[in-house]
Amino acid sequence: MIHQDENIIILGIRTTKGSFINFCYIIYDKSSREGILVDPSWEPEKINNALYEHEVIVRHILLTHHHFDHINLSDYYTYTTSARVWISEKEYEFYKPNLNNILLFNNNEEIQFGSCTCVTIVTPGHTAGSSCFKINNHLFCGDTLFPEGCGICTSLGGNPNEMFKSIQLLKKNLNKSVKIFPGHSYGIAPGLELESILKTNIYMQIDDEETFIKFRMRTNQKNFMEFL
Ligand SMILES: [Fe+2]
Repeated sequence: MIHQDENIIILGIRTTKGSFINFCYIIYDKSSREGILVDPSWEPEKINNALYEHEVIVRHILLTHHHFDHINLSDYYTYTTSARVWISEKEYEFYKPNLNNILLFNNNEEIQFGSCTCVTIVTPGHTAGSSCFKINNHLFCGDTLFPEGCGICTSLGGNPNEMFKSIQLLKKNLNKSVKIFPGHSYGIAPGLELESILKTNIYMQIDDEETFIKFRMRTNQKNFMEFL
């Protein structure tokens, strides 16, 4: 899956291992070919083929959170490229993930590659320091937001109050034309505009914090992919 605008190309790579299905994203600057990897976890041959075909120079690895289905290939890419690895300070302080070349960011910091700028948005809730990355009009959001719902808040460090605040922050600050690239797809292809998601995603429609928390933490959810 390829998306692009005037200065970047986005390659969405669907990677699997067993029952895990994760999207890894390669985003690169068209003119310098300097790029980043978001959440590399499975099938390095697939990711390597795309890097090779597009002649991408990997400068940074951006991790939305510490869950192993999002970070599994981070160390591997620190050996095969000279990339530095970024995770939020909140996430790092809470879980202390053991990763090479690690650098920490806080909310609203900038990470450069070529002539492009990635802005960090710390959105806790799924985990203590889950984060999103905004590049131009594209948001890479890990397990915080999916077209169909939002991430579960029951794993260690997860918090539905924080998730509510994070969803509200995204709603308030993002332009409706921003395209959403989550860490997993549950049927809808990555790249949908926020405007569409606002219409169909119930977690984006509940504006009362208590109602949101009750709904997010309900115990009759069949599995974490059943958002309704
Ligand atoms: Fe996760």
